[in-house]
Amino acid sequence: MLHSNLSVNNKGNLCICGADCVELAKEFGTPLYVLDENYIRDRCHEYTESFKRYLPTGSMPLYASKALCIKAIYPILLEEDFGADVVSSGELYTALAAGFPAERVFFHGDNKLPEELDYAISKGVGCIVADNIDELKIIDMLASRHNVRQRVLLRLTPGIDPHTFDAVNTGTLNCQFGVAIESGQAEVFVAEALKCKNIDVLGFHCHIGSQIFSPEPFTMALDIMLDFMVRIRESMGYTASILNLGGGYGIRYTEADPIMDIYGCIEKTGEHLKMLCDRFDYPLPAIFKEPGRSIVADAGLTLYTAGYIKKVSDNTNFIIVDGGMADNPRYVLYASPYTIINVSRCEEKADQVYTIAGRSCETGDLIQENVPLPETRSGDLLAVLSTGAYNYSMSSNYNRFPKPPMIMLKDGRARVVVKKETFEDLIRNDL
Ligand code: LLP
Repeated sequence: MLHSNLSVNNKGNLCICGADCVELAKEFGTPLYVLDENYIRDRCHEYTESFKRYLPTGSMPLYASKALCIKAIYPILLEEDFGADVVSSGELYTALAAGFPAERVFFHGDNKLPEELDYAISKGVGCIVADNIDELKIIDMLASRHNVRQRVLLRLTPGIDPHTFDAVNTGTLNCQFGVAIESGQAEVFVAEALKCKNIDVLGFHCHIGSQIFSPEPFTMALDIMLDFMVRIRESMGYTASILNLGGGYGIRYTEADPIMDIYGCIEKTGEHLKMLCDRFDYPLPAIFKEPGRSIVADAGLTLYTAGYIKKVSDNTNFIIVDGGMADNPRYVLYASPYTIINVSRCEEKADQVYTIAGRSCETGDLIQENVPLPETRSGDLLAVLSTGAYNYSMSSNYNRFPKPPMIMLKDGRARVVVKKETFEDLIRNDL
């Protein structure tokens, strides 16, 4: 099976975290987002353990809330010793509403609105990742108004292409996030930040992209960031105490994806950091990382019921499911690959090829093409694997489909963590 929390029981049904997906669909209906809490905790543990082993004291993993921002995730993060990054006051509000301490939150965004910054500072957010000079000035002014010294990291772009797909590639020069090192603008950014009276500059941040499987792009980022930090120390006498390397570790959507070795990657990052710091006689900064996808993606799957099966040509045989781009827009947006399983026919030979379509009024509404499956009938259950990250968080009400519910499994037992939307929810804000 693609992930270690998946199995097939003696009825031949797919199970996640020991729970039979047929039973889950019976109890909660479809479409259904399913999450495995044990698996999430295991992933968190890999980060906290490898951080303890290989990174300098004070280093901390932060969960990138954008991957899946629901109240139920925050108590888990807190128990697992994680911080969190948020990219909007909506994400911050969710974290705080779940009782997550503001001081463990890092606030990101390339255009945080002044009222969002005001909200974050008034709530005592631990650190703001400043995106540009104009924003720094607003943070400085608001911090003075609230009579605090606001801690910030400065977001830089190191100019690295981690060979990932363009839409989620954020480390190169021509991107709207942060300030580029290559263009010389980053030096001005630091100089301006150090002048701000109500700002404490803790260090630097960079995020180079997503779905990265090897340590090299991160060690390259370290080379560039350390070189910059050394130059800044020489020219401005400023030494950073934190270096945040962003998120980006990959997960397996299909068997073709490698297995991510988090321990190995963090070990390489730690070794490389020590080597560079020794070479430049730079005090070891605490390393922060912001994994999102690698915490929740493969802890999740989505269950659908097959509706009509339509063979429209020799090459195209559609299975139209009871969800689609509204609950998972990632194939439409990125042609993202997925593994799809016929839940009650796991052990039958996958000798048919299907296109899995959604039920939105949109020709492009596909979940996946060329999917090998056993002969599938209307009423069969399909599981789309690895949908824990960026599915619910990017879902919409297109065609006024209510969003599906989400359940969380712990030791095989399910609880609802997001209720199914109702028609009443859909018209709540309509006047
Ligand atoms: N930190 C920053 C500053 C980020 O921009 C991101 C993701 C992360 C952390 C988390 O990266 P992760 O560990 O999840 O790869 N919607 C796209 C993904 C966009 C990611 C944007 N930034 C998708 O569905 O694949």
